Amino acid sequence: MPSFVPLVWPAHADAAVSFLSSNVWPYHWQPTLTEEQAANVKLVGDDIESFWVEAGDETIGLIRVFDLDDIATGSPLLDIRIAQAHRGRGVGTAAVSWIVDHLFSSYNELHRIEATTRHDNRAMQRVFERCGFRLEGRLLEAWANADGSRADTWIFAILRREWSAIRPG
Ligand SMILES: CC(C)(COP(=O)(O)OP(=O)(O)OC[C@H]1O[C@@H](n2cnc3c(N)ncnc32)[C@H](O)[C@@H]1OP(=O)(O)O)[C@@H](O)C(=O)NCCC(=O)NCCS
Repeated sequence: MPSFVPLVWPAHADAAVSFLSSNVWPYHWQPTLTEEQAANVKLVGDDIESFWVEAGDETIGLIRVFDLDDIATGSPLLDIRIAQAHRGRGVGTAAVSWIVDHLFSSYNELHRIEATTRHDNRAMQRVFERCGFRLEGRLLEAWANADGSRADTWIFAILRREWSAIRPG
């Protein structure tokens, strides 16, 4: 079972650059990141938090949460990245399950959490479904790829009452 640790800025900046630039992200806008590009990925701020996914001493994933500034009326968005060598082993499912528990438990006024995926990212969609998210819509040609092409975006969400019905304990 992985553990989850807040990413601290700037103390963890070098580790973040290394993690982001040493893995391939086939369904993100930029599948590969140079160190310079990785250094520009916003990880911590007024409306954004990030968490490491760790297994023992090894960093195996990164969770980012956006749009935390309007928590009472808005819907925070998730970005989940698992290191290539650790994909397909349940880590993504554990990570989404943990961040959903963490957000609903930490923010009493939070009503819903959203996540978007490219239409062909079946692993991510399966993880969301397993964690209680529902497919809410398909946004046509909303996903811009780095090569200039466009793909459909699928949007998933989970409501507090849906989480309450399946929450552990
Ligand atoms: C997407 C991602 C977060 C999922 O995490 P993971 O640890 O690989 O996922 P898990 O092992 O927990 O679960 C994957 C599920 O998808 C399924 N799956 C994997 N590839 C699949 C495919 N091509 N088609 C259908 N299902 C697939 C697995 O069978 C599993 O479902 P199951 O447990 O019901 O069998 C991870 O693969 C990743 O980081 N990918 C690259 C970054 C990325 O795409 N992030 C999301 C951006 S929106």
